Amino acid sequence: MSVHGIRVKVNGQLCERRVEARTTLADFLRNELELTGTHLGCEHGVCGACTVLLNGTAVRSCLLLAVQADGADVLTVEGLAQGERLHPLQKAFQDHHALQCGFCTPGFLMTALAFLKENPRPSEAQARDAISGNICRCTGYQPIVQAILQAAVEITSSPAGAESRKY
Ligand code: FES
Ligand code: FES
Repeated sequence: MSVHGIRVKVNGQLCERRVEARTTLADFLRNELELTGTHLGCEHGVCGACTVLLNGTAVRSCLLLAVQADGADVLTVEGLAQGERLHPLQKAFQDHHALQCGFCTPGFLMTALAFLKENPRPSEAQARDAISGNICRCTGYQPIVQAILQAAVEITSSPAGAESRKY
């Protein structure tokens, strides 16, 4: 068993740990750092529930090893809200009832976050395409798409939204 020291900034906080080479980034976040908001569904890159941002890019944390995140910046769903204030995406998901059981939600939020950073004023078709790699068994997707479009407006038009663009 090989063990490696890694330093990862997670949600703005520097974490130094020793991990087995085979530990996935998802297991590292959930088991080592107790950030259980990152969910594991399929564990082979299909469902998107485990999506986090790695240096600003949406990645499937079940497909990455923790050692591959050494030296990187990771953002998980726990890093979205600022205290009691929800991120505009979280607020829009709440407003549009874009979640039911919520299992898929962290993955959708992080996927949408990276998408809106690249594409701040998307069309409905673009929003649909952006989430096409994430699976939800409950909502039928329409409320999720509407939530992403609402968040796009909020992020690009309000001071609070502008603050959330730092991600
Ligand atoms: S748990 Fe990673 S993509 Fe499904
Ligand atoms: S809200 Fe249940 S899987 Fe998406």
